[in-house]
Amino acid sequence: TQALVDLVTSRLRDIPDFPEPGVVFKDVTPLLADGEAFSAVVRDMAERRRGTVDLVAGIEARGFIFGAAVAHELGIGFVPVRKAGKLPGRTRGVSYDLEYGSATIEIHEDSFVGGERVLVVDDVLATGGTAAATCELLEGSNATVVAFEALIELAFLHGRDRLPGRDVHTTIVVG
Ligand code: PRP
Ligand code: HPA
Repeated sequence: TQALVDLVTSRLRDIPDFPEPGVVFKDVTPLLADGEAFSAVVRDMAERRRGTVDLVAGIEARGFIFGAAVAHELGIGFVPVRKAGKLPGRTRGVSYDLEYGSATIEIHEDSFVGGERVLVVDDVLATGGTAAATCELLEGSNATVVAFEALIELAFLHGRDRLPGRDVHTTIVVG
């Protein structure tokens, strides 16, 4: 709804030249600190997916915050998609490029038995590199990615083009 878009927009902060010159970083910490806004965002994501997913996967680090809250709201489990070297068990990983730099993400190799319907959650869809890599990683591990939810879409980076044919929803679109 427009009310949700307005609420979210009012609780984001632009930080110029972070983490490097030329990037205008969308800071979600004011939204997280506002119980009404945080709760409204989480409920909106959860209600769109209720009954259609078995697990939520959240992408480190800010995707953990929204993803875990959505999983709790739905009463389903959560799988952390972590940056390389953080998970204690045997892992599978994939490397990718971001708006700023590159990264490797990992999951435990036994995260899925096979066929689980997974909702992927993150805070920002920028170039789509992280989201696409996550989908590739999960589907290479026998999960079915049914949808992707993010709070913010940076439209000028065309992240949706990296997720063809997928059910992608973002709360607000900027640029
Ligand atoms: C940010 C953001 C997304 C990703 C989006 O995470 O939280 O995960 O970049 O960019 P992309 O669409 O171009 O891939 P970052 O890697 O900065 O990690 P953090 O959440 O740990 O700060
Ligand atoms: N803000 C927050 N996270 C991001 C951004 C941004 O502008 N770009 C890529 N990830």
